[in-house]
Parts: sequence; structure tokens; C-alpha cells
Amino acid sequence: MARFISFEGIDGSGKSTQARMLAERLRTAGRDVVLTREPGGSPGAEEIRALLLRGEADRWSAETEILLFTAARRDHLERTIRPALGRGATVVTDRFADSTRVYQGITRGDLRAIVDRLHALMIGVEPDLTFVIDIAPETGLARAAARKDGEQRFEGMGLAMQRAMRAGFRALAQDFPDRVRIIDGDRPPEAIAAEIAGLMA
Ligand code: ADP
Ligand code: TYD
Repeated sequence: MARFISFEGIDGSGKSTQARMLAERLRTAGRDVVLTREPGGSPGAEEIRALLLRGEADRWSAETEILLFTAARRDHLERTIRPALGRGATVVTDRFADSTRVYQGITRGDLRAIVDRLHALMIGVEPDLTFVIDIAPETGLARAAARKDGEQRFEGMGLAMQRAMRAGFRALAQDFPDRVRIIDGDRPPEAIAAEIAGLMA
């Protein structure tokens, strides 16, 4: 039974919605569930989140970003994810290391090897199951733009980059066939949630 589950995809794909719906479904079935997110998911990592998501687009280099996301992830892992798994809970996270592989790995040159090496050194775990919510970048941008939450540093990257990231997320299914499932996100939330519930069984 999968106990560490991540949701991935481009901005506005519906990850948070699906993570919440899955957590509710599992809780209704009597499971102890920790619903969390990245960057963030622990007090220290939430502070790093504010540094990462606010401010000018060129505030950090890609390399510095990799370090900051990984620092946040390490704190999230130590303080939230490992303790929850240790007591037998199911962890549902809105983004994890695959986001760094795609966002920092491809958006400003090919830094994927650096991302993977730092991950191996400092994190070293993967989810049991990863749902990539796949939608057209136009749809994602329109949904994300409607939100206006002041955390837009990564959302001004333009359509060409969103297309590249969509391809990057889809390619994860080839890199990690045992855990990554591509889910069509261009359907009503309930239909998507039903497919995900079926894949959990
Ligand atoms: P993400 O976490 O991937 O950025 P959200 O779950 O926050 O995406 O969804 C972004 C916006 O789109 C929200 O306003 C949400 O209500 C809406 N939304 C989510 N899933 C769907 C869906 N399947 N169809 C239409 N709108 C959706
Ligand atoms: P998130 O709050 O999930 O945004 P959204 O709901 O719009 O998808 O994530 C914030 C931003 O951080 C998002 O644009 C993706 C980016 N991000 C990275 O660039 N690298 C990472 O490792 C993570 C976890 C997120």
C-alpha cells in the first residue's frame, strides 16, 4: 500500500485540488493522513518558501534555487514527512523532488545532473506513487492567473517554457515507470479524483 504520495505538474494543473480530495477520501476511509506541500510543509521550509516565491524573477540563480529548494525539502523531510511515515500515517504532498528536476533542471540550461546529485546526497527518498496532473499550458496559466496570491515568481515564465515543463513532467514517467502515473487533468475534478482513487487500490 503506497504511503508516500506526491502530486506534480505545471502551475494551475489542479495538483492542490487533487491532493486535498485524495486526503479527504483516505481520511474518510479511516487512514491517518498528513496533507503537505512544497516548497514548505514545515515551519522552516515555509520561511524558505517566502524567499523563493516572492520578489523579482532574477532574484536567485538556478544553482542557488536548487540549494534553497533542497534545503527546504530536507527540513520538510526531517520534521514532517519522516515522523508521519514513522507513525504509520499516509503522506500526501503537493510537489516534491520531481518539481526541482523539472523547474530547476530544465528552465535555465540543463542542470538536471546537479539536481539529481544533490538529491542523492541530501534527500535520497522518492514517493511510492506520483501523480503527474497533465494539462495544456494555456489552461494552467489561465487557472493560475485567476489566483493572485503574490507568489508569482515562477508563473511569468511564458508559454514556451510551460510547454517545455509539461514535456519534462511527462518524461518523468519514462525515468521512473514504477511510481509515476500521468493523469489527464482536463476533466472535472471528480472524474480525475475517481481515476486516482482507482490507481491507489
Ligand atoms: P495547482 O495546485 O496545480 O496550481 P489548483 O488545484 O490550485 O492547481 O487549481 C488551480 C485553479 O483551477 C483553482 O482555482 C481550482 O479551483 C481550479 N481547478 C482545479 N482543478 C480543476 C479542474 N479539474 N477543472 C477546472 N478547474 C480546476
Ligand atoms: P506551488 O505553490 O505548488 O504553485 P502552483 O500551485 O502554482 O503550482 O509552487 C510554487 C512554485 O514553485 C511553482 O511555480 C513551482 C515552483 N517550484 C520549483 O521551481 N521547484 C521546486 O522544487 C518546487 C517544489 C516548486
